[in-house]
Amino acid sequence: MKIELSGTGVSLDFECPTNERILYAGLSTNSELPYECATGTCGSCKAKCLSGSYDWAWPEAPARKDLKSDDELLLCQCIAKTNLKLEVRSKLIKSHLPFSPAHWESGQIISAENLAPGVMSLRLRLSERIHFLPGQFMVVEFPQISGGRAWSMTNFIDGDTDEVDFVIKMKPGGTLSQHLFDANVFASLCGKSVRAFGPIGKAVFDQGNERDLVCIGGGTGVAGMMSILKAFHKKQFPRRKASLFFGVRTQEDAFFMDELTQLVRDSSHAIRVVIAFSDKPATQDYIAQYEYIDFEHGFVHEVAMRQMDTWKTPQTRAYLAGPPPLVDGALRALLLQAKLPAGEILYDKFG
Ligand SMILES: Cc1cc2nc3c(=O)[nH]c(=O)nc-3n(C[C@H](O)[C@H](O)[C@H](O)COP(=O)(O)OP(=O)(O)OC[C@H]3O[C@@H](n4cnc5c(N)ncnc54)[C@H](O)[C@@H]3O)c2cc1C
Ligand code: FES
Repeated sequence: MKIELSGTGVSLDFECPTNERILYAGLSTNSELPYECATGTCGSCKAKCLSGSYDWAWPEAPARKDLKSDDELLLCQCIAKTNLKLEVRSKLIKSHLPFSPAHWESGQIISAENLAPGVMSLRLRLSERIHFLPGQFMVVEFPQISGGRAWSMTNFIDGDTDEVDFVIKMKPGGTLSQHLFDANVFASLCGKSVRAFGPIGKAVFDQGNERDLVCIGGGTGVAGMMSILKAFHKKQFPRRKASLFFGVRTQEDAFFMDELTQLVRDSSHAIRVVIAFSDKPATQDYIAQYEYIDFEHGFVHEVAMRQMDTWKTPQTRAYLAGPPPLVDGALRALLLQAKLPAGEILYDKFG
């Protein structure tokens, strides 16, 4: 099926294979389409259908409730039944990334480890090598579970790789995460086959653009930031600093402590890490265990704002990720209190 998409200024057209979501078909041809979550929750891939017909792959997609009329659709959740003419509000461009576009491929789980209660790491070996940017994610589909889940890569490879690392949190009532944390399923995860689409995501670290960084992440929102901080460290900008504010409820919920310690130590403190416990302050024994990491009590975005003078410079770029209330709170504070330009704040909302 042929998809013709008009936006401000430019039009794009691409082929959409049978049963493929329109967004994924477009991204596979290196077309820069509007999207954020790629999984039906944010509404940023909204388009208007000018002609042709389509089906919903997931009619219950949460962002569907925000559509105003029957001729509006979500590119990430709709499948073309005929050739389609669509209109979006944003600017459309052909991407000029120097590597291959996002695509579907198969993958095999090669390791799964518990990191903290309800948090696991998962490593996939992909059937083809990919080149992903720090901060990007893949949409991973498991057999017998309907729909894909967006997970951010935590590793950083300067080049292409066939291994991607994720950190996954159990969501109460969540279909896939609850399934993965079932003791019997967890024990047999290694060797399991999945399908993955990517790499995608726009909240990425631009290695050519020298900036001071502030990263504010809650729970598994820290995932993409691990990749960003590893890339920042590798880049060795002589005068640049990066601060990570990582929020979890209690010290029992914290993870990546050894990796974070290593980043601070190896960067000679060019990277600073502050962990904010929202429910209960860290014990003295715990603090003594991690001399390279600072600990605070409170909501992570509030802690980051209290410490604004430690990270804010005229060159600061911010990365935010985690549950929507955290990201929205941090976004407001960075715009209104820290007065960062909107274009210097990149974020992924999920929870
Ligand atoms: C950009 C981005 C990055 C993310 N990174 C991470 C990460 O690094 N680690 C992490 O743990 N979580 C991450 N998430 C959240 C993750 O995608 C899942 O929402 C989470 O794992 C819970 O999945 P669940 O199946 O347990 O919950 P559920 O509530 O059952 O499902 C969660 C999501 O899966 C999709 N979905 C569910 N059912 C269907 C269906 N039938 N058809 C199509 N789609 C469906 C929808 O997007 C839904 O909101 C990220 C989300 C986004 C948007
Ligand atoms: S990108 Fe389609 S709803 Fe978020």
